[in-house]
Amino acid sequence: MKIIVANWKMNNGFDEVDQWIEAFYEVFFKKIEDDNVVEVVLCPPNIMLDYIDTQLIEDGFHFLEYLSEKYGKQPEEFSLEEIKKYVYDSRALKLGAQDCGFENEGQFTGDVSAKQLKEVNCEYIIIGHSERRKYHHETNEIVSKKVALAVKNDITPILCIGEPSEIRQEGKHFEYIKNQIKNSLPFIGYKKLLIAYEPIWAIGTGITATPIEIAEMADFVHNVLKTETSIFIENFYLLYGGSVNSSNSSEILDIKGIDGLLVGKASLNFDEFGKILMNNK
Ligand code: PGA
Repeated sequence: MKIIVANWKMNNGFDEVDQWIEAFYEVFFKKIEDDNVVEVVLCPPNIMLDYIDTQLIEDGFHFLEYLSEKYGKQPEEFSLEEIKKYVYDSRALKLGAQDCGFENEGQFTGDVSAKQLKEVNCEYIIIGHSERRKYHHETNEIVSKKVALAVKNDITPILCIGEPSEIRQEGKHFEYIKNQIKNSLPFIGYKKLLIAYEPIWAIGTGITATPIEIAEMADFVHNVLKTETSIFIENFYLLYGGSVNSSNSSEILDIKGIDGLLVGKASLNFDEFGKILMNNK
């Protein structure tokens, strides 16, 4: 299964949320019986999470009603486990946050914790995005604390790594990525972990890393995890991010070792994002 993550960053409003979700269901609604080959994660600004979660819960209950008609079963005859499965776990759209605080609670004005994000049913958190590292001075040490808190709150971290262009020009990108991985991942067990390789020079620039560059790095990241850390990861997915759009997405997803995409600009409008999903359905 591939995972495609939409990272809205600080863009879009509630009108766009409504349009996007409506279009999503039109194009992509897949019933639970179908093979789900793509998991879609939406990471909007935090203020929209609760609103979207409520809509997804309602849609989940509609789905339960549909199943109860289909199987001639009263809704109250479903067990709690089945309700959880149909209303929450089988959501066609998963919710993610773009960041979390480095503590679970306390005097941290402006921050939102992983524990709070869990309350609005976030299943993923993007952590250590290069824009957070650049504009909020996040170090690997802070990133590592956030990853630990996501896991502690039963949320899957999407750890972002990626080198600046001068590091690549100097030929030091592998070393740089190895350090980022080793210092951003706390030594804990992971039920599920996503790492997004996003070369900084490819983010929002229209320049995508070449398939060869991506494949080399994918191979390297898998190797570092295996040989340089002794972290136990049950399910690992490596995503690529950086100027992904509907014309390059299929080619990137076909690269060996790449299990998904982190999409910024091309995810804001569903016309374009829908094409990325449909290409890879
Ligand atoms: P982009 O952003 O697709 O606009 O390059 C990707 C990201 O920063 O996650």
